[in-house]
Parts: sequence; structure tokens; C-alpha cells
Amino acid sequence: MPDRLSRRELIALSGAAAIAATSSTRAQGAADRGFPQGFLWGNATSAYQIEGAWQEDGKGESIWDRFAHTPGRIERNETGDVAVDHYHRFKDDIRLMKALGAKAYRFSIAWPRVFPQGAGSANPKGLDFYQRLTDELLANGIEPFATLYHWDLPQALQDKGGWESRDTAKAFADYAGHVGAKLSDRIRNFITINEFTTFVELGYKTGLFAPGLKLPPARVNQVRHHALLGHGLAVQAMRAQAKPGTRIGPAENAAAAVPIVETPEHVAAAERAMRELNAGVLTAILEGRYTEAFLASAGRDAPEFTGDDLKTIASPLDFVGVNVYMPVYVRAADAPAGYEVVPTAKSHPHMASSWQAFGPEALYWAPRHLQKIWNVRDIYITENGCGAADEPAADGVVYDTDRIMFLRSYLAMLQRATAEGVPVRGYFHWSLLDNFEWASGYSTRFGLVHVDYTTQKRTPNLSAAYYSDVIKRNGV
Ligand code: FCB
Repeated sequence: MPDRLSRRELIALSGAAAIAATSSTRAQGAADRGFPQGFLWGNATSAYQIEGAWQEDGKGESIWDRFAHTPGRIERNETGDVAVDHYHRFKDDIRLMKALGAKAYRFSIAWPRVFPQGAGSANPKGLDFYQRLTDELLANGIEPFATLYHWDLPQALQDKGGWESRDTAKAFADYAGHVGAKLSDRIRNFITINEFTTFVELGYKTGLFAPGLKLPPARVNQVRHHALLGHGLAVQAMRAQAKPGTRIGPAENAAAAVPIVETPEHVAAAERAMRELNAGVLTAILEGRYTEAFLASAGRDAPEFTGDDLKTIASPLDFVGVNVYMPVYVRAADAPAGYEVVPTAKSHPHMASSWQAFGPEALYWAPRHLQKIWNVRDIYITENGCGAADEPAADGVVYDTDRIMFLRSYLAMLQRATAEGVPVRGYFHWSLLDNFEWASGYSTRFGLVHVDYTTQKRTPNLSAAYYSDVIKRNGV
């Protein structure tokens, strides 16, 4: 959300030098802190946030094009028309990944590039781009993970009701099947939908994101249900049309329930909280039902659904992806739910955006809950990272000590999870490059690599050196 902290007094080169000294000495004798062999380290991005080329090669209009072009929706009325011009600079960007030592890359496919009208006839030039991108990744030894929906719905479908209509779920499955048929020769891993909760809540309830609607609760619940249905139908379409061995799963920003104290009763409370706080999406996908508490609290606003819908929604997955940015602290309580959310203290530290409380334990508990509660056997952290008030110092480099602190702390907690046998297979840092951060426009920077938006010049931040070292050692 729009919230830029401009405080940046402590960059001091001396601080950077101290970090460099620590990193050169700490390898000796330290406990291993390694990750499993073959752990996939990567970065994540999404089409609208980086590609630009919004009207090129036959692409149709998306709801984000329409939204960003509507005055007053985005900070300073910025748009993704050009973004970081990745559409034309993807080879340079892959070189940056290669320099980091990245093993994998999660990007998204823009639905309106492939089907400009959302359905009907495909635009072959749309998929050509993703073929070129993927071939370049593979030539550099980087494993592609393609997200099918990172919020850029074709505007033509929004004009017919968007996710309020069941037909959108079906159109999504058709698009997914088409992509699977054409690209599964070179892409082995697909992600259906990115962050159901975010685009449903912000797009259809608060109106802060595209398409900017403020619907009443029953209609919001129906939108969410249709997104779940779209996910399930897309999984099935992929199974039917992609090469055998193609793997598919969702990427949800699950509420990460963290026990306030690690005692058995608080841990049990956090497990209960994990199911209920995620009842609208993850629990529905992993259990094939809406929990009683979810339906009771929705009351007459509960979504309309059939038993078949739930079966589709729970179609077997190859992995579960979670985007983890912050914790939800929970404690045991004498309440009917058996848990209580503990509000974060007023002085609780947060990253540059005030919504992002600093809570590294989230990266331990989120995957651990997936394993413990739902027996998930393949987990990816599909996003994790932080915004920072990055400004280049005199030498042109951003000394983002805060991002390094964030990464070191969160990754140590992820290492704890893998060391305890939680089956996390990979981690995608958000993001490779600074980019268009939705309603905040370009004001919030999440990149390991700084982008000068006037020249498109890319310069790795100090945090890129940190992440690269993690990848090289496969450890923290
Ligand atoms: C996530 C989104 C991603 C990016 C990061 C900062 O919610 O999936 O596109 O905006 O937050």
C-alpha cells in the first residue's frame, strides 16, 4: 500500500564495508545451515509489473491496463505501459539472473497476450514471446515456473462480468489448457493463480486494485469461489492437454499463523488458526470443502456451490506454493475457535511498507503447517521479499542493509524448516528487479536489482550480492 518511508540516514559506506567483512570471515567453522541438495533458488516477477509493451504484437487490453489508465487509481497515475521494458530486455534480465546464480525463475504469462479477447482465437505472437523467454532461460540453465494468472484479466472478460461469472472460470481453464498444450514441451512447472485472496479482496471488495469494484459480501464470496473453480478446472485442463509429467499448483498468500510462544498449546492453536484463517482458499483447495466456521460466519452471504465444484477445486496437485511476507501471531484461547489472533504491537518493526510486519518465523511456520495439517509433500515459497526505500549512494549502488537483514532472518527460518524435514523444494525471491507495485506505482521498490526508471539501467543492490552468496553456498 502507498506508504513510503523516506528515512535513510544510515546508508554509510562504513556499514556496507562491515557487511562485506563479516561475509568474508563467517564461512569458517560455522554450523552448516545448509539447504537440501537441489534446492531451487530463484526470483519471481509478474507480467504486468515488468513487461511493458502493453499494446504490442496483438496483445489485448487487461483490467490492469484499463485501471491504470483511469486517473486517480494509481499513485501519481503511473502505469505498466512500459514498466521495466522486460518484453524487450528479457535477455539482459536473464543475464542478471545468471549472474546471481539463480536456478529457477517464476514469471507470469499475460492472458491477454495469448487470448486478446480472453477466449476465442489465440494470438500466436503472444505465446511466441514466452517461447523465446523460456528458451533463453533453458539455455542458461534456469528452470522456468510459469504462473497463468497474476491478475491481468482480459478486459473483454471483465466486460462480461469477470470473475463474478462462472464462464470466466471456464475461459481460464481453456486458456490454461492451450498454454499447457503449447508450452509444456519446455516448461515443466505451472502455477495456476497468484494470490487469490489479494486480487479478490482488493479488486472486488475494497476496490484498491483492478477492476476497482466494491461489491457486497455475497458477491465477493462468489468471485472467490469462481477463482477457486477456475484453479481446479485449470488443473484438470493442464492434465488433459499438457505433456505427461507437467506439474501444477497454486500460489496463495496464505495467512501464516505463528504461535506467539512455542509451547504445545499455542502451536496447536496456530494449527487451528492456519485452517480457519485460510478457509476461503487454501483449506478449500486442500480439503475440498468450506469449513463449518467459514460457512457460519458468511451466513446468507455464503457462495453458491455444488459438491462437484468442491471436487474440482480439490483436484490433486503436484505442489503447493505459498507467498509469505509476514506473520499472523496467534495464541491459544478459551474461545470457540480455540485460538485468538494477537494484534501486532504498535511499535512492532515493519519493513518500508507499514503493512509488512517483520516476522521471520512466518517462513518456518507456513510450510510446516502445510506439511503437518495437510501432508503436503512438495512446497515452494513462491514469493518472499520486502519493499525498501532504496536510493543509490554516490557510487551508484543501493546499500539495502534492511533487505539483507530481512533475507538473512527469513531464510534462517526457512532453513530451520528444511533441516526439520519440511519438504520445501524451492524459494523465489520477490523480486528480481524493481517494478510496478500495483496501486503504489513505482514508489515502492522490491528488487534485488535497482532500476533507474528514466534510463532503464539495471544495477544490482548490495542484497543481490548477499542472495548470490546464499545460492552459491546453498545455505545461510
Ligand atoms: C504480492 C504480489 C506481487 C507483488 C508483491 C510485493 O502480493 O503477488 O505481485 O506485488 O506482493
